[in-house]
Amino acid sequence: MDEILRPLIEKVRHASMVDEEALLFSWRSACELINDGVPGALVECGTWKGGCSFGLALAQRAVFGRVVRPVYMLDSFEGLPPADGRDGPAAIEYQSRPDDPGYLDNCRAPLPQVLATRDSLSLSESECPIRPGWFSETVPPLRSELLAQGIAWLRVDCDWYAPVRFVLDELEPLVAEGGVVILDDYYAWDGCARAAHDYLSHNDIPYRLRQEGSGFIWAWFRKQQSRGLSDPL
Ligand SMILES: C[S@@+](CC[C@H](N)C(=O)[O-])C[C@H]1O[C@@H](n2cnc3c(N)ncnc32)[C@H](O)[C@@H]1O
Repeated sequence: MDEILRPLIEKVRHASMVDEEALLFSWRSACELINDGVPGALVECGTWKGGCSFGLALAQRAVFGRVVRPVYMLDSFEGLPPADGRDGPAAIEYQSRPDDPGYLDNCRAPLPQVLATRDSLSLSESECPIRPGWFSETVPPLRSELLAQGIAWLRVDCDWYAPVRFVLDELEPLVAEGGVVILDDYYAWDGCARAAHDYLSHNDIPYRLRQEGSGFIWAWFRKQQSRGLSDPL
């Protein structure tokens, strides 16, 4: 499938800070879930300029001939909230250096620019529904909307403890058995790792965190309530 997906990277490269290997994993894992009939929506929380989500819609077109499942895109489009102690010293330092080239305007992505990118890729609101605003305002209504259909693929790419934990608390319970949750910042930021551990531990969940690819870039888990004796690892 990667031969089909790889050419899409250049179409969305300008609109995503996600590593190429991680983009390919994200798109491949979602297309495989669709292929395998795992029910539910596709959701990215923390889209920045939208490249990963738009790429997933294009990936569906390339693999299935159409956007089979819409990609819900949630972001403040105002950048990251302030980091706190749980996010660790690196996060606090990052936000204290607005002149650093890696600051990227605190991950701000103006909504009109994101809408223009969606248009330029010939994607529609029904294929990539964009829900602008802070997660505290946008996630609860999405949760209600998706309660019946559930979620097959959840990409959590919002860096800090508070938003990662909030998204997991609200949306992870909707993920279908066999579905995938990607923790983009697990290795990058202390807060994301802490939020993931706290969420799993607080809810007494045995999902195995998995590392993928050639480096410690992202982590993910497949939702599996318990491992049967003969289930593959
Ligand atoms: C690292 S960027 C996402 C990168 C993106 N997935 C890509 O493909 O490049 C993190 C995003 O999380 C968003 N974010 C973090 N906390 C948020 C919150 N509480 N509510 C809404 N958006 C949030 C920021 O606005 C930012 O765009």
